[in-house]
Amino acid sequence: MRVAWMVVLICLAGQGMAQTYYQDVAPILERNCQSCHYPGGIGPFSLLTYEEVKARGSFIVHVTSTRYMPPWKADPSFRHFRNEKMLTEAEIRTIGDWVERGMQKGKKPRSHALIASASGAEPDLTLRMTSDYSLSDKAIEDFRFFVLPTNLQEDKKIAAIEFIPGNRKQVHHSRLMTDTTRRIRGIDGMSELDPNVRNFQTIPLVDEFMYGWVPGNQKIFFPPGTAKHLFKGTDLVLNIHYSPTSKPQKDQSVVNLYFAKGPVDREVYTLTLRENDIVNQPFYLPAESTPSFFIRYKVQKDISLISIMPHMHFVGKSMVVEAITPTGEQIPLVRVNKWDFNWQTTYQFKNMLKLPAGSQILVSAAYDNTSANPANPNHPAKGIGYGWRSTDEMCNVVIYYVDYREGDEFVEY
Ligand code: HEC
Repeated sequence: MRVAWMVVLICLAGQGMAQTYYQDVAPILERNCQSCHYPGGIGPFSLLTYEEVKARGSFIVHVTSTRYMPPWKADPSFRHFRNEKMLTEAEIRTIGDWVERGMQKGKKPRSHALIASASGAEPDLTLRMTSDYSLSDKAIEDFRFFVLPTNLQEDKKIAAIEFIPGNRKQVHHSRLMTDTTRRIRGIDGMSELDPNVRNFQTIPLVDEFMYGWVPGNQKIFFPPGTAKHLFKGTDLVLNIHYSPTSKPQKDQSVVNLYFAKGPVDREVYTLTLRENDIVNQPFYLPAESTPSFFIRYKVQKDISLISIMPHMHFVGKSMVVEAITPTGEQIPLVRVNKWDFNWQTTYQFKNMLKLPAGSQILVSAAYDNTSANPANPNHPAKGIGYGWRSTDEMCNVVIYYVDYREGDEFVEY
Protein backbone atom coordinates (compact mmCIF):
# COMPACT_ATOMS: atom_id res chain seq x y z
CA MET A 1 0.00 0.00 0.00
CA ARG A 2 2.71 2.45 1.09
CA VAL A 3 4.74 1.68 -1.96
CA ALA A 4 1.74 2.34 -4.20
CA TRP A 5 1.19 5.74 -2.65
CA MET A 6 4.84 6.61 -3.06
CA VAL A 7 4.58 5.76 -6.75
CA VAL A 8 1.49 7.96 -7.12
CA LEU A 9 3.19 10.88 -5.36
CA ILE A 10 6.34 10.57 -7.41
CA CYS A 11 4.29 10.43 -10.59
CA LEU A 12 2.28 13.50 -9.64
CA ALA A 13 5.41 15.43 -8.72
CA GLY A 14 7.04 14.33 -11.93
CA GLN A 15 4.08 15.42 -13.98
CA GLY A 16 3.95 18.80 -12.28
CA MET A 17 7.55 19.50 -13.02
CA ALA A 18 7.44 18.30 -16.59
CA GLN A 19 4.31 20.16 -17.65
CA THR A 20 4.92 21.86 -20.96
CA TYR A 21 2.84 22.90 -23.88
CA TYR A 22 4.14 20.30 -26.30
CA GLN A 23 4.27 17.43 -23.82
CA ASP A 24 1.08 17.92 -21.88
CA VAL A 25 -1.26 20.53 -23.28
CA ALA A 26 -1.03 20.24 -27.06
CA PRO A 27 -2.21 16.59 -27.13
CA ILE A 28 -5.32 17.56 -25.14
CA LEU A 29 -6.12 20.45 -27.44
CA GLU A 30 -5.50 18.35 -30.52
CA ARG A 31 -8.08 15.79 -29.47
CA ASN A 32 -10.67 18.17 -28.10
CA CYS A 33 -10.38 21.64 -29.61
CA GLN A 34 -8.58 21.82 -32.92
CA SER A 35 -11.30 20.27 -35.07
CA CYS A 36 -13.08 23.63 -34.62
CA HIS A 37 -10.36 26.07 -33.59
CA TYR A 38 -8.14 26.39 -36.65
CA PRO A 39 -7.77 29.24 -39.16
CA GLY A 40 -11.08 29.52 -41.00
CA GLY A 41 -12.72 27.02 -38.63
CA ILE A 42 -15.98 27.50 -36.81
CA GLY A 43 -14.23 28.41 -33.54
CA PRO A 44 -13.74 32.19 -33.27
CA PHE A 45 -9.93 31.83 -33.20
CA SER A 46 -7.25 29.28 -33.96
CA LEU A 47 -5.69 27.19 -31.19
CA LEU A 48 -3.12 25.40 -33.29
CA THR A 49 0.11 27.02 -32.14
CA TYR A 50 1.79 27.64 -28.81
CA GLU A 51 1.54 31.40 -29.33
CA GLU A 52 -2.19 31.26 -30.05
CA VAL A 53 -2.88 29.14 -27.00
CA LYS A 54 -0.60 31.16 -24.71
CA ALA A 55 -2.34 34.40 -25.72
CA ARG A 56 -5.60 32.99 -24.33
CA GLY A 57 -4.26 30.93 -21.41
CA SER A 58 -6.57 32.10 -18.65
CA PHE A 59 -9.56 32.25 -20.99
CA ILE A 60 -8.94 28.62 -21.89
CA VAL A 61 -8.73 27.70 -18.20
CA HIS A 62 -12.07 29.39 -17.72
CA VAL A 63 -13.93 27.70 -20.60
CA THR A 64 -12.50 24.26 -19.81
CA SER A 65 -13.04 24.36 -16.03
CA THR A 66 -16.65 25.49 -16.51
CA ARG A 67 -16.99 22.77 -19.19
CA TYR A 68 -18.27 25.31 -21.68
CA MET A 69 -15.66 23.94 -24.07
CA PRO A 70 -15.46 21.53 -25.76
CA PRO A 71 -19.20 21.49 -26.40
CA TRP A 72 -20.54 17.98 -25.71
CA LYS A 73 -24.18 17.63 -24.82
CA ALA A 74 -24.61 13.90 -24.16
CA ASP A 75 -24.55 13.05 -20.46
CA PRO A 76 -21.40 10.93 -19.88
CA SER A 77 -22.91 9.39 -16.75
CA PHE A 78 -25.54 7.84 -19.04
CA ARG A 79 -23.27 6.61 -21.84
CA HIS A 80 -19.87 7.28 -23.38
CA PHE A 81 -19.40 7.49 -27.14
CA ARG A 82 -16.47 6.89 -29.47
CA ASN A 83 -16.54 10.46 -30.78
CA GLU A 84 -16.84 11.96 -27.32
CA LYS A 85 -15.07 15.28 -26.89
CA MET A 86 -14.82 15.88 -23.21
CA LEU A 87 -11.98 16.66 -20.85
CA THR A 88 -11.24 14.52 -17.82
CA GLU A 89 -10.79 16.23 -14.47
CA ALA A 90 -7.09 15.45 -14.78
CA GLU A 91 -6.89 17.12 -18.20
CA ILE A 92 -8.65 20.22 -16.90
CA ARG A 93 -6.16 20.32 -14.03
CA THR A 94 -3.24 19.87 -16.40
CA ILE A 95 -4.32 22.93 -18.40
CA GLY A 96 -4.93 24.92 -15.19
CA ASP A 97 -1.55 24.01 -13.69
CA TRP A 98 0.25 24.72 -16.93
CA VAL A 99 -1.22 28.23 -17.13
CA GLU A 100 -0.59 28.87 -13.45
CA ARG A 101 3.05 27.85 -13.80
CA GLY A 102 3.78 30.28 -16.58
CA MET A 103 2.90 28.31 -19.72
CA GLN A 104 6.23 26.58 -20.42
CA LYS A 105 6.69 25.82 -24.07
CA GLY A 106 8.83 22.68 -23.92
CA LYS A 107 10.36 20.94 -26.87
CA LYS A 108 8.48 20.59 -30.09
CA PRO A 109 8.18 16.97 -31.17
CA ARG A 110 9.76 16.27 -34.54
CA SER A 111 6.63 15.54 -36.52
CA HIS A 112 3.75 17.46 -35.12
CA ALA A 113 0.43 16.74 -36.79
CA LEU A 114 -1.62 19.91 -36.59
CA ILE A 115 -5.06 18.53 -37.19
CA ALA A 116 -5.82 14.92 -36.48
CA SER A 117 -8.58 14.87 -39.08
CA ALA A 118 -6.36 14.43 -42.14
CA SER A 119 -7.70 11.06 -43.04
CA GLY A 120 -5.80 9.86 -46.05
CA ALA A 121 -8.32 8.28 -48.35
CA GLU A 122 -9.63 10.24 -51.33
CA PRO A 123 -13.39 10.46 -51.80
CA ASP A 124 -14.88 8.46 -54.68
CA LEU A 125 -17.59 10.97 -55.44
CA THR A 126 -17.39 14.66 -54.67
CA LEU A 127 -20.67 16.50 -55.04
CA ARG A 128 -20.57 20.27 -54.97
CA MET A 129 -23.54 22.62 -54.78
CA THR A 130 -24.23 23.41 -58.42
CA SER A 131 -23.45 27.10 -57.97
CA ASP A 132 -22.30 29.60 -55.36
CA TYR A 133 -25.10 30.54 -53.06
CA SER A 134 -25.11 34.23 -52.09
CA LEU A 135 -26.08 34.51 -48.46
CA SER A 136 -28.59 37.05 -47.27
CA ASP A 137 -26.83 40.12 -45.85
CA LYS A 138 -29.84 41.01 -43.71
CA ALA A 139 -28.28 39.49 -40.57
CA ILE A 140 -30.87 36.74 -40.34
CA GLU A 141 -30.71 33.03 -39.61
CA ASP A 142 -31.04 31.64 -43.11
CA PHE A 143 -32.14 28.07 -43.95
CA ARG A 144 -31.84 26.95 -47.57
CA PHE A 145 -32.35 23.79 -49.59
CA PHE A 146 -30.09 22.54 -52.37
CA VAL A 147 -30.18 19.52 -54.64
CA LEU A 148 -27.00 17.66 -55.56
CA PRO A 149 -27.74 15.12 -58.30
CA THR A 150 -25.37 12.14 -58.01
CA ASN A 151 -26.01 11.05 -61.64
CA LEU A 152 -24.97 7.57 -60.53
CA GLN A 153 -25.48 5.00 -63.29
CA GLU A 154 -25.54 2.12 -60.82
CA ASP A 155 -26.32 1.50 -57.17
CA LYS A 156 -23.42 2.15 -54.79
CA LYS A 157 -22.34 1.03 -51.33
CA ILE A 158 -21.40 4.01 -49.19
CA ALA A 159 -18.78 3.28 -46.52
CA ALA A 160 -18.29 6.85 -45.31
CA ILE A 161 -19.89 10.28 -45.67
CA GLU A 162 -18.33 13.68 -45.20
CA PHE A 163 -19.77 17.18 -45.43
CA ILE A 164 -17.37 20.05 -46.08
CA PRO A 165 -18.81 23.51 -45.62
CA GLY A 166 -17.73 25.93 -48.33
CA ASN A 167 -17.97 28.95 -46.06
CA ARG A 168 -16.78 27.67 -42.70
CA LYS A 169 -17.68 30.81 -40.85
CA GLN A 170 -21.28 30.91 -42.04
CA VAL A 171 -22.38 27.31 -42.49
CA HIS A 172 -23.87 26.47 -39.15
CA HIS A 173 -25.17 23.01 -39.74
CA SER A 174 -26.55 20.86 -42.52
CA ARG A 175 -28.73 17.85 -43.05
CA LEU A 176 -28.57 15.44 -45.94
CA MET A 177 -31.59 13.61 -47.37
CA THR A 178 -31.94 11.38 -50.42
CA ASP A 179 -34.57 11.37 -53.14
CA THR A 180 -35.03 9.13 -56.17
CA THR A 181 -38.16 10.82 -57.59
CA ARG A 182 -36.18 13.85 -58.87
CA ARG A 183 -39.23 15.90 -57.97
CA ILE A 184 -37.30 17.91 -55.40
CA ARG A 185 -35.02 19.47 -58.02
CA GLY A 186 -36.98 22.72 -58.11
CA ILE A 187 -36.14 23.42 -54.47
CA ASP A 188 -32.55 24.49 -55.20
CA GLY A 189 -31.71 27.63 -53.21
CA MET A 190 -35.22 27.84 -51.76
CA SER A 191 -35.62 29.42 -48.34
CA GLU A 192 -37.28 27.48 -45.58
CA LEU A 193 -39.68 30.39 -45.27
CA ASP A 194 -40.96 29.89 -48.81
CA PRO A 195 -44.50 28.49 -48.57
CA ASN A 196 -43.68 26.04 -51.39
CA VAL A 197 -41.51 24.10 -48.94
CA ARG A 198 -44.73 22.56 -47.66
CA ASN A 199 -45.33 20.98 -51.08
CA PHE A 200 -41.85 19.45 -51.26
CA GLN A 201 -42.31 18.14 -47.76
CA THR A 202 -45.09 15.83 -49.03
CA ILE A 203 -42.73 13.95 -51.39
CA PRO A 204 -41.66 10.73 -49.65
CA LEU A 205 -37.87 10.58 -49.33
CA VAL A 206 -35.72 7.45 -49.47
CA ASP A 207 -33.65 8.61 -46.50
CA GLU A 208 -34.81 11.63 -44.51
CA PHE A 209 -31.63 11.69 -42.55
CA MET A 210 -28.76 10.26 -44.48
CA TYR A 211 -26.36 12.46 -42.55
CA GLY A 212 -26.42 15.40 -40.20
CA TRP A 213 -23.45 17.75 -39.86
CA VAL A 214 -22.63 20.24 -37.16
CA PRO A 215 -19.38 22.13 -36.62
CA GLY A 216 -16.74 19.76 -35.34
CA ASN A 217 -18.31 16.68 -36.93
CA GLN A 218 -15.87 14.69 -38.93
CA LYS A 219 -16.37 12.05 -41.53
CA ILE A 220 -18.74 9.33 -40.40
CA PHE A 221 -17.72 5.85 -41.44
CA PHE A 222 -19.48 2.55 -41.01
CA PRO A 223 -18.06 -0.66 -39.55
CA PRO A 224 -16.27 -3.03 -41.96
CA GLY A 225 -18.59 -5.15 -44.08
CA THR A 226 -21.44 -2.66 -43.68
CA ALA A 227 -22.45 0.26 -45.91
CA LYS A 228 -25.33 2.51 -46.84
CA HIS A 229 -27.08 1.67 -50.07
CA LEU A 230 -27.41 4.51 -52.55
CA PHE A 231 -29.74 3.91 -55.50
CA LYS A 232 -28.62 4.90 -58.97
CA GLY A 233 -29.82 8.32 -60.01
CA THR A 234 -30.25 9.48 -56.42
CA ASP A 235 -30.44 13.20 -55.71
CA LEU A 236 -28.94 14.36 -52.43
CA VAL A 237 -31.06 17.05 -50.81
CA LEU A 238 -29.14 19.42 -48.57
CA ASN A 239 -30.70 21.62 -45.95
CA ILE A 240 -28.15 24.21 -44.81
CA HIS A 241 -28.49 26.59 -41.91
CA TYR A 242 -26.43 29.76 -42.40
CA SER A 243 -25.55 32.02 -39.47
CA PRO A 244 -26.53 35.68 -39.72
CA THR A 245 -24.17 38.03 -41.55
CA SER A 246 -24.46 41.62 -42.71
CA LYS A 247 -21.68 41.29 -45.29
CA PRO A 248 -22.11 39.85 -48.78
CA GLN A 249 -20.85 36.27 -48.61
CA LYS A 250 -21.01 33.12 -50.67
CA ASP A 251 -21.08 29.41 -49.99
CA GLN A 252 -20.54 26.34 -52.09
CA SER A 253 -20.48 23.33 -49.82
CA VAL A 254 -19.40 19.83 -50.74
CA VAL A 255 -20.48 16.30 -49.90
CA ASN A 256 -17.87 13.56 -50.22
CA LEU A 257 -18.95 9.98 -50.59
CA TYR A 258 -16.59 7.05 -50.06
CA PHE A 259 -17.54 3.79 -51.70
CA ALA A 260 -16.92 0.55 -49.85
CA LYS A 261 -13.64 -1.05 -50.94
CA GLY A 262 -13.95 -4.42 -49.24
CA PRO A 263 -16.87 -6.84 -49.46
CA VAL A 264 -20.13 -5.54 -48.02
CA ASP A 265 -22.73 -8.00 -46.88
CA ARG A 266 -24.80 -5.85 -44.58
CA GLU A 267 -26.69 -2.68 -45.32
CA VAL A 268 -26.71 0.23 -42.88
CA TYR A 269 -30.31 1.32 -42.37
CA THR A 270 -31.61 4.52 -40.89
CA LEU A 271 -34.29 4.12 -38.28
CA THR A 272 -35.96 7.47 -37.82
CA LEU A 273 -38.29 7.68 -34.86
CA ARG A 274 -40.51 10.60 -35.61
CA GLU A 275 -43.56 12.60 -34.71
CA ASN A 276 -45.94 9.90 -36.04
CA ASP A 277 -44.51 7.47 -33.48
CA ILE A 278 -45.44 9.73 -30.57
CA VAL A 279 -47.89 8.00 -28.22
CA ASN A 280 -49.38 11.16 -26.72
CA GLN A 281 -50.62 12.88 -29.88
CA PRO A 282 -51.04 15.46 -31.22
CA PHE A 283 -47.51 16.80 -31.58
CA TYR A 284 -48.49 20.36 -30.90
CA LEU A 285 -46.94 22.79 -28.44
CA PRO A 286 -49.40 25.45 -27.31
CA ALA A 287 -48.04 28.89 -26.45
CA GLU A 288 -46.71 29.14 -22.89
CA SER A 289 -46.67 25.35 -22.44
CA THR A 290 -43.93 22.93 -21.37
CA PRO A 291 -45.10 19.65 -22.89
CA SER A 292 -43.28 16.33 -23.05
CA PHE A 293 -43.74 13.80 -25.82
CA PHE A 294 -43.11 10.09 -25.64
CA ILE A 295 -42.19 7.62 -28.33
CA ARG A 296 -42.33 3.87 -27.92
CA TYR A 297 -40.95 1.80 -30.76
CA LYS A 298 -40.74 -1.99 -30.86
CA VAL A 299 -37.70 -3.55 -32.49
CA GLN A 300 -38.83 -6.49 -34.68
CA LYS A 301 -35.54 -8.38 -35.03
CA ASP A 302 -32.10 -8.48 -33.48
CA ILE A 303 -30.23 -5.35 -34.57
CA SER A 304 -26.86 -3.70 -33.89
CA LEU A 305 -26.86 0.03 -33.38
CA ILE A 306 -24.01 2.09 -34.86
CA SER A 307 -24.99 5.63 -33.89
CA ILE A 308 -27.79 7.77 -32.54
CA MET A 309 -28.75 11.38 -33.18
CA PRO A 310 -31.47 13.13 -31.18
CA HIS A 311 -33.07 16.02 -33.05
CA MET A 312 -35.32 18.83 -31.90
CA HIS A 313 -35.43 22.52 -32.78
CA PHE A 314 -35.15 25.67 -30.66
CA VAL A 315 -37.64 25.00 -27.87
CA GLY A 316 -36.38 21.48 -27.16
CA LYS A 317 -35.32 21.18 -23.54
CA SER A 318 -34.06 17.64 -22.91
CA MET A 319 -34.25 14.17 -24.38
CA VAL A 320 -33.71 10.69 -22.96
CA VAL A 321 -33.55 7.59 -25.13
CA GLU A 322 -33.26 4.10 -23.69
CA ALA A 323 -34.21 0.57 -24.62
CA ILE A 324 -35.88 -2.13 -22.54
CA THR A 325 -35.19 -5.70 -23.64
CA PRO A 326 -37.88 -8.41 -23.45
CA THR A 327 -36.15 -9.71 -20.31
CA GLY A 328 -36.42 -6.27 -18.71
CA GLU A 329 -32.82 -5.18 -19.12
CA GLN A 330 -32.50 -1.41 -19.39
CA ILE A 331 -30.03 -0.17 -22.01
CA PRO A 332 -29.20 3.54 -21.87
CA LEU A 333 -28.83 4.97 -25.39
CA VAL A 334 -28.39 8.72 -25.06
CA ARG A 335 -29.39 11.47 -22.67
CA VAL A 336 -29.14 15.20 -23.38
CA ASN A 337 -30.01 17.10 -20.24
CA LYS A 338 -29.72 20.61 -21.63
CA TRP A 339 -30.76 20.57 -25.25
CA ASP A 340 -28.97 23.13 -27.39
CA PHE A 341 -30.06 23.48 -31.02
CA ASN A 342 -26.61 24.77 -31.88
CA TRP A 343 -24.70 21.72 -30.73
CA GLN A 344 -26.23 18.61 -32.24
CA THR A 345 -24.23 15.64 -33.32
CA THR A 346 -24.29 12.01 -34.39
CA TYR A 347 -23.27 10.08 -31.31
CA GLN A 348 -21.32 7.00 -32.34
CA PHE A 349 -21.45 3.96 -30.09
CA LYS A 350 -18.06 2.65 -28.97
CA ASN A 351 -18.88 -0.82 -30.23
CA MET A 352 -21.92 -1.94 -32.11
CA LEU A 353 -24.73 -2.17 -29.59
CA LYS A 354 -27.09 -5.12 -29.73
CA LEU A 355 -30.84 -4.67 -29.25
CA PRO A 356 -32.63 -8.03 -29.19
CA ALA A 357 -35.92 -8.54 -31.05
CA GLY A 358 -38.87 -7.33 -29.02
CA SER A 359 -36.91 -4.55 -27.31
CA GLN A 360 -38.74 -1.28 -26.89
CA ILE A 361 -36.99 1.97 -27.65
CA LEU A 362 -38.39 4.64 -25.36
CA VAL A 363 -37.96 8.33 -26.07
CA SER A 364 -38.91 11.10 -23.72
CA ALA A 365 -38.58 14.62 -25.15
CA ALA A 366 -39.32 17.76 -23.15
CA TYR A 367 -40.00 21.20 -24.62
CA ASP A 368 -40.27 24.71 -23.24
CA ASN A 369 -42.50 26.84 -25.43
CA THR A 370 -42.82 29.67 -22.95
CA SER A 371 -41.86 33.30 -23.52
CA ALA A 372 -39.39 32.89 -20.66
CA ASN A 373 -37.29 30.49 -22.76
CA PRO A 374 -34.55 32.65 -24.33
CA ALA A 375 -34.11 30.07 -27.13
CA ASN A 376 -37.75 30.48 -28.20
CA PRO A 377 -37.83 32.01 -31.71
CA ASN A 378 -41.18 33.63 -30.87
CA HIS A 379 -41.58 36.42 -28.36
CA PRO A 380 -44.24 36.29 -27.11
CA ALA A 381 -44.57 32.51 -27.47
CA LYS A 382 -46.80 31.12 -30.24
CA GLY A 383 -48.31 27.68 -30.76
CA ILE A 384 -45.84 25.48 -32.65
CA GLY A 385 -46.49 22.35 -34.72
CA TYR A 386 -44.45 19.94 -36.81
CA GLY A 387 -42.45 21.20 -39.78
CA TRP A 388 -39.11 21.41 -41.55
CA ARG A 389 -38.51 25.03 -40.70
CA SER A 390 -36.38 25.62 -37.65
CA THR A 391 -39.17 27.73 -36.15
CA ASP A 392 -41.46 24.69 -36.40
CA GLU A 393 -40.65 21.81 -34.11
CA MET A 394 -39.49 18.25 -34.54
CA CYS A 395 -39.09 15.21 -32.36
CA ASN A 396 -36.71 12.74 -33.97
CA VAL A 397 -34.22 10.12 -33.03
CA VAL A 398 -32.11 9.00 -35.97
CA ILE A 399 -30.38 5.65 -35.57
CA TYR A 400 -27.95 3.92 -37.93
CA TYR A 401 -28.12 0.16 -37.54
CA VAL A 402 -27.47 -3.18 -39.22
CA ASP A 403 -29.06 -6.59 -38.72
CA TYR A 404 -27.37 -8.22 -35.75
CA ARG A 405 -24.67 -10.79 -36.26
CA GLU A 406 -22.98 -12.89 -33.57
CA GLY A 407 -20.00 -11.02 -32.12
CA ASP A 408 -21.02 -7.51 -33.22
CA GLU A 409 -20.68 -6.31 -29.63
CA PHE A 410 -16.94 -6.89 -29.83
CA VAL A 411 -16.26 -5.30 -33.19
CA GLU A 412 -14.00 -2.28 -32.87
CA TYR A 413 -13.74 -0.14 -35.95
C1 HEC B 1 -17.37 21.64 -31.96
C2 HEC B 1 -16.53 22.77 -32.17
C3 HEC B 1 -15.69 23.28 -31.02
C4 HEC B 1 -14.84 22.56 -30.23
C5 HEC B 1 -14.54 21.08 -30.30
C6 HEC B 1 -14.26 23.51 -29.31
N1 HEC B 1 -14.74 24.77 -29.54
FE1 HEC B 1 -14.29 26.45 -28.53
N2 HEC B 1 -15.70 27.46 -29.56
C7 HEC B 1 -16.41 26.98 -30.62
C8 HEC B 1 -17.31 28.00 -31.10
C9 HEC B 1 -18.25 27.88 -32.28
C10 HEC B 1 -17.13 29.12 -30.28
C11 HEC B 1 -17.83 30.47 -30.37
C12 HEC B 1 -19.25 30.37 -29.93
C13 HEC B 1 -19.39 30.23 -28.47
O1 HEC B 1 -18.65 30.88 -27.71
O2 HEC B 1 -20.29 29.47 -28.07
C14 HEC B 1 -16.11 28.74 -29.32
C15 HEC B 1 -15.62 29.57 -28.33
C16 HEC B 1 -14.50 29.31 -27.56
C17 HEC B 1 -13.89 30.26 -26.67
C18 HEC B 1 -14.39 31.67 -26.42
C19 HEC B 1 -15.56 31.60 -25.47
C20 HEC B 1 -16.28 32.92 -25.35
O3 HEC B 1 -16.99 33.08 -24.34
O4 HEC B 1 -16.14 33.77 -26.25
C21 HEC B 1 -12.78 29.65 -26.13
C22 HEC B 1 -11.77 30.25 -25.17
C23 HEC B 1 -12.75 28.30 -26.66
N3 HEC B 1 -13.80 28.15 -27.52
C24 HEC B 1 -11.79 27.36 -26.34
C25 HEC B 1 -11.93 26.01 -26.68
C26 HEC B 1 -11.09 24.98 -26.14
C27 HEC B 1 -9.92 25.21 -25.18
C28 HEC B 1 -11.53 23.81 -26.67
C29 HEC B 1 -11.05 22.42 -26.36
C30 HEC B 1 -10.82 22.08 -24.99
C31 HEC B 1 -12.63 24.12 -27.57
N4 HEC B 1 -12.84 25.48 -27.53
C32 HEC B 1 -13.33 23.19 -28.32
C33 HEC B 1 -16.32 25.72 -31.16
C34 HEC B 1 -15.61 24.67 -30.59
